[in-house]
This record gives sequence, C-alpha cells and structure tokens, in this order.
Amino acid sequence: MTDPTRFAGHGVLVTGGARGIGAAVARRLAEEGGRVLVTDRDLPEAEETASALRRQGLAAEAFACDVADRAAVEAAVAHAVAAFSSLDVLVNSAAHCTSDVTLFEDDPDEAWVRDLDITLTGAYRCCRAALPHLAASGRGAIVSVGSVNGVQDFGNHGYSAAKAGLGSLTRTLAGHAAPRGVRVNLVVPGTVRSSAWEGRDDELDAVRPLYPLGRVGEPEDIAAAVAFLASRDAAWITGTSLVVDGGLTAVNTGFRAAVRHTS
Ligand SMILES: NC(=O)c1ccc[n+]([C@@H]2O[C@H](COP(=O)([O-])OP(=O)(O)OC[C@H]3O[C@@H](n4cnc5c(N)ncnc54)[C@H](O)[C@@H]3O)[C@@H](O)[C@H]2O)c1
Repeated sequence: MTDPTRFAGHGVLVTGGARGIGAAVARRLAEEGGRVLVTDRDLPEAEETASALRRQGLAAEAFACDVADRAAVEAAVAHAVAAFSSLDVLVNSAAHCTSDVTLFEDDPDEAWVRDLDITLTGAYRCCRAALPHLAASGRGAIVSVGSVNGVQDFGNHGYSAAKAGLGSLTRTLAGHAAPRGVRVNLVVPGTVRSSAWEGRDDELDAVRPLYPLGRVGEPEDIAAAVAFLASRDAAWITGTSLVVDGGLTAVNTGFRAAVRHTS
C-alpha cells in the first residue's frame, strides 16, 4: 500500500526512468513523497514522465543521463543534490540487452561490451558518483534492478553476466557503505510487461504458464519491492537480492508437469 509520507523530503534519482520499470519506480517514490529526478538517455520521454507526475501535484524533474557517460552521470547526481538539497535514494534501472547467445560463436565483441558497459558499469558509475551524497544524507539507500537472467540461464549471455555482476557489486558495496549508513540492495525481477516487451504479447502469453502465480509481472510489482528496499521499512536490510518473479525461479514447473506424484 502506498504511504504518502514514506519518502517525504527524500531526494531520489532514478536511471532509465523514462519508461517501464524505471518510470513505475519514479511514480511510486513520488507518490510516497519523494522528490524524483527522472533520468534517462531519452530526455523527451523523461520530460513526459516527469511532467505527468507534476500534473498530479507530485515533485519530479527530468534530466538527460546516459549511464555509459561518466560525466553525464556526475552531472545528474550534482543536479539532484542541487535541486533537492540532498540525495537519499539512487535507483539503478537503466540496462541494455543485445547479446544473443544463438550467435555466440560469431559474436562481435561490441554486443557483449555494450551490455556490460550499460547494465553493470553504468550502475557502478552511478553508485560511485552518488555514494558521498548518500552517505551525507544519513538515510542513504541504493536499489539496483537486476534480473532472473543473473541467476539462471535465460539466454542473452552479456546481459545475463552483467546482471549476475550486479549481485556481486551489491554485496561488495553493501560492505563498503554500511559503516557510512548507506544500504545497498538488488531487486531481481522475472518477466515484466514493460515497453521492453512491446509488440511481443505472443511471447508473454507463451511464458505465462511458467509462472506459478499465473501471470507475468507488471512494472508496479517491481516498483513496490524497490520502494520497500529503499525505505526505512528495510532499515536492517543490506547486501540482499530480493527475487520478485511470481515464483519462476523457486518452483520447477517443468518437473512438476512431467512427474505425476509431485502434483
Ligand atoms: N521487463 C522485463 O521483463 C525485465 C525483467 C528483468 C529485469 N528487467 C530490468 O528492469 C530494468 C528496466 O527494464 P524495462 O523492462 O523497464 O525496460 P524499458 O525498455 O521499458 O525501459 C528502459 C529504460 O532505460 C533507458 N535506457 C536504456 N539505456 C540507457 C542508458 N544507457 N542510459 C540511461 N537510460 C537508458 C531507456 O531509454 C528506457 O527508458 C532493466 O534493468 C531491466 O534489465 C526487466
């Protein structure tokens, strides 16, 4: 349930906030009182997302930030601190997925390098730039958006390796930042009906039976988990990965279907 005061007075920066899960996170944290900098490499769409929030009386601004660009990341963090007086929450949602494991043997380096650079190194750049400000806030929290691709085989080798790397970065940074009062956690989504799946309803229908809870996720399912981990409700949680996948990775639906006595 939304608590309109949970992030009151918090400065929030969301990467990849223009669309999909990032936009849902921006909305959720703004609805809960946060002042949100919606950053994205697509500035016009980030502006649209932020202005839709402002029309509802919520506090949001847009800022151009490609997480592949260290200077742009540092400018976005500086802008959030200047605009909101503090930076309390960083949400790393931007990612890139082009690596195709069916092309593995002929893969050009570029797809692997780009997936790693945006999905893993991009989050690292944001954490590095934000950490001093999150430490100064006294209630700083980082939540990154991982993927079930980081814990099981779902193809897309470069993207998946990057998502697995986010788990490691989360734990290492949790240890480094804990003495300064900053918590660092990861949300691990299964399939989520975001703009990334636009025009692919047939595939979403095909994967639905793999989900024990009977549906794929919505961006709001992930935003709720991000909000929890970023909030004081998670004050004693750091370095953890919260799987939000409708039971996909916990329940072996194929085995259950094949073996009668498990039903
Ligand atoms: N949708 C899913 O099924 C799913 C599943 C697991 C994890 N995720 C993760 O959730 C996060 C959000 O994904 P989504 O489904 O909402 O995707 P999306 O495509 O709907 O939105 C991604 C947003 O990130 C922005 N972006 C892309 N590259 C960027 C860059 N270099 N710098 C800044 N912004 C950039 C895009 O412009 C877009 O606004 C990603 O980390 C993704 O890996 C998604």
